[in-house]
Amino acid sequence: APDIDVKAVKADLDQLQKIADANGGNRAHGQPGHKASIDFIKEKLDKAGFTTQVQEFDNNGATGYNLVADWPGGDEGKTVMAGAHVDSVDAGPGINDNGSGSAGILEVALAVAKSELKPAKHLRFAWFGDEEDGMIGSQAYVDKLGADKSKIDSYLNFDMIGSPNPGYFVYDDDTRLEKVFKDFFKSKDIATEIETEGDGRSDHASFKDVGIPVGGLFSGADYIKTEEQAKNWGGEAGKAFDACYHQSCDTSKNIDDKALDNNSDAIAHALWELSS
Ligand code: PHE
Ligand code: CA
Ligand code: ZN
Ligand code: ZN
Ligand code: ZN
Repeated sequence: APDIDVKAVKADLDQLQKIADANGGNRAHGQPGHKASIDFIKEKLDKAGFTTQVQEFDNNGATGYNLVADWPGGDEGKTVMAGAHVDSVDAGPGINDNGSGSAGILEVALAVAKSELKPAKHLRFAWFGDEEDGMIGSQAYVDKLGADKSKIDSYLNFDMIGSPNPGYFVYDDDTRLEKVFKDFFKSKDIATEIETEGDGRSDHASFKDVGIPVGGLFSGADYIKTEEQAKNWGGEAGKAFDACYHQSCDTSKNIDDKALDNNSDAIAHALWELSS
């Protein structure tokens, strides 16, 4: 798999920050910054040759949007999906939560196009709306799939992958998918732990609930880093992985570049492996 250039991921985060700045400071469901974020990502994917679709849904009296991008080719009966929620909370711009996952999978999608990948399995990327009110967008997506859910080989979720005091957590919901990520980090000599802080609290839950195998990565939210974890990963023991979680200070400064880089590379590795 290619090495994802973290500078490109960071440039996307700067754009998402600008979108928040121009739209009242957030990118939340029902706010103009949410749709503007979807439009920004869609334009890049369309230019790169993806087939994109915007799905609308309603919650709390406002329209929400999911962006779905298919890379033409591969066995659609075995679709490998990567997803991230693109909405923020109302309190701030949501750059680590979850500009980070949104930008990470965007740059991996663009790398798929650039390398003219011809995977055996079909590849699909999704940017979900309104995760923050209870995974509303991903639930709408899965509901709409209906019987086609049997065609989803696996769903990989990326919600917070650049936490400023990072940990390396791998979802342990499915051993096959967990192993792909663990092998990658092992090859980089990076220790990982099983993800427990967020169990069932992000969009993968919508997929897992209907029996689709799920995996993913997480760099930590408001849990506190232990001494042991600081020894393994650096950063500060006794402090939250992301002290700006769900706050106005979750800006483009609230990112650890190395974690964002490693996790973006891990996404590419996993998608190349799983779709081959
Ligand atoms: N879904 C939570 C949020 O958006 C955080 C979270 C991330 C939970 C990853 C589980 C896994 O605030
Ligand atoms: Ca990289
Ligand atoms: Zn959140
Ligand atoms: Zn989140
Ligand atoms: Zn690889």
